[in-house]
Amino acid sequence: MRKPVIAGNWKLFKTSSEAVELVTALLPLVSGATNVEIVVAPVFTVLDRVQRVISGSNVNLSAQDCYWEAEGAFTGEISPKMLLDAGCSHVIIGHSERRQFFGETDETVNKKIKAAIASGLVVLFCIGETLAERESEKTFDVLKRQIIGGLTGIPESDLAQVIVAYEPVWAIGTGRTASDDQAQEAHAYIRGEIRSLYSAAAAEGMRVLYGGSVKPENIAGLISRQDIDGALVGGASLKADSFAALVNAAQK
Ligand code: PGA
Repeated sequence: MRKPVIAGNWKLFKTSSEAVELVTALLPLVSGATNVEIVVAPVFTVLDRVQRVISGSNVNLSAQDCYWEAEGAFTGEISPKMLLDAGCSHVIIGHSERRQFFGETDETVNKKIKAAIASGLVVLFCIGETLAERESEKTFDVLKRQIIGGLTGIPESDLAQVIVAYEPVWAIGTGRTASDDQAQEAHAYIRGEIRSLYSAAAAEGMRVLYGGSVKPENIAGLISRQDIDGALVGGASLKADSFAALVNAAQK
């Protein structure tokens, strides 16, 4: 059985007081969710504050990105080692907003994933096609390229530290969720790629999350599908009640 994951990507939202308020409200609402890996990903500057609130709870801390070097003359970057130091257990890598706006490529994603794994972090590895790519029937080609590119050189023994997040770019922040069938189809394809790159056991063990306008109203249908193991959530993770509703839906 793959343990479901519900991860909240707070993006560029929440000051430290707002972040503390959100997790403080969240903790009692999700304390009974023992069978869900719950993750929140605040901005770097509030990681430490949030960690102090969630310490000892069932909520895990993630960053939204990291660099591949441990330290050095790399102004503006942050390393996996520093994220661990701030209390992170997880890190999001390759989010489509980083690919779109900040020049992230399959190659940089691969370097970051390797560095994060080597430090002991669990990686939320994001992939997904744009609307133009879906409409020109390139979805599977894009997913294949992103999976192979992102996982090059990563041995099967490290895959326990990888969670794939399938996020169709056209569904992120648009209110336009992939249908349960569209999501399941992509997830099955992703699992098949993991099987052909690694093994049946690797594919069977890999958690594959869906992301893109996930809300309390649509989580049940998504999570009930065979290859959908949870969600990476943006907008609905910014309020304690909606994020808790997602966690509690996954717990069922
Ligand atoms: P959304 O964002 O839930 O607001 O669509 C998802 C994501 O970007 O991870």
